[in-house]
Amino acid sequence: MNFPATRLRRLRRTPALRSLVRETHLTPSALIQPLFVCPGEGVRKEVSSMPGVFNLSIDEALKEAEASAALGIGGLLLFGLPAEKDDQATGAYADDGIVQQTLRALKANRKLDPLVLIADICLCEYTSHGHCGIVVNQPAHQGGPQDPDAYTIDNDATLPLLARTAVAAAQAGADIVAPSDMMDGRVEAIRAALDAAALPDTPIMSYASKFASAFYGPFREAADSAPQFGDRRSYQMDGANLREAMREIDLDLAEGADLLLMKPAMPYLDVIRAARERTGVPIGAYQVSGEYSMLQAAFEKGWLDRDRATLESLLGIRRAGADFIVTYFAKDAAKLLG
Ligand code: PBG
Repeated sequence: MNFPATRLRRLRRTPALRSLVRETHLTPSALIQPLFVCPGEGVRKEVSSMPGVFNLSIDEALKEAEASAALGIGGLLLFGLPAEKDDQATGAYADDGIVQQTLRALKANRKLDPLVLIADICLCEYTSHGHCGIVVNQPAHQGGPQDPDAYTIDNDATLPLLARTAVAAAQAGADIVAPSDMMDGRVEAIRAALDAAALPDTPIMSYASKFASAFYGPFREAADSAPQFGDRRSYQMDGANLREAMREIDLDLAEGADLLLMKPAMPYLDVIRAARERTGVPIGAYQVSGEYSMLQAAFEKGWLDRDRATLESLLGIRRAGADFIVTYFAKDAAKLLG
């Protein structure tokens, strides 16, 4: 049937008609808000490249979490800025590490029960060199050799530390642990460690396909985690590779991942769609720091409509196939949706 019998505009005429036939929906419960927790009290320090995003001390993080829970947001993803860093990332798995302390404080507050508390599991915020794993052959000077053979990220030596970090977070109250380091075999190592620690019910959300991306730039200021030499391309994925992303997904699921996180989101919507079609497990997407910052910059200049562009950016990620979205817009979007 063709024009004039078929007129697709008939179903676009009123808001009510558009609402009735809408295919994709955004709800606050499908949004996860990242939080950057730091030592101290009363600290609320804005990240210069991410307007509206803060380093928060635990007392301030509690206030932020209460506001998020009141808005119906689904969960929080926690990152820690430790007081001290070392080459073994001790702060990541210490019982009194900053994320562990925060988790205990959040869990003690019953108003926060509706929030799923997710701990990002990685070493980069805790290592003195800023890499996500243990470095061997470390160059003598900061900013030293860019030659990939000048240092090695030791995959297998990193696994036990990631596993310890996951167990420490789960013991402190994390509802989900989310490894983001991109070491091979980490899901299996974490699953085994959780089970051995009598934590068989803690799910693993694996950042299965995480690409080496320029869009993580602002995060590294927020989490103080920029590598002091070299870059992350020997462990994070090459942005050109879709088939390899599918292999990462298959392996992580085989190792026991319960949910998947795809990252970044907007430049990789095709990867999210391919993941959706490949597996029935819940899939999240991370609208990363650079995606947020570039939109914020355009809003500040008055070049884009803040409210509409915020929701449209999230809707596109949902339409690509993500069940839920980690986003720095979580509170803004929840207010718009509420
Ligand atoms: C830790 C980690 C990073 C992000 C999430 N977990 C940084 C990185 O890999 O360099 C980036 C998130 C963002 O940019 O918002 N490895």
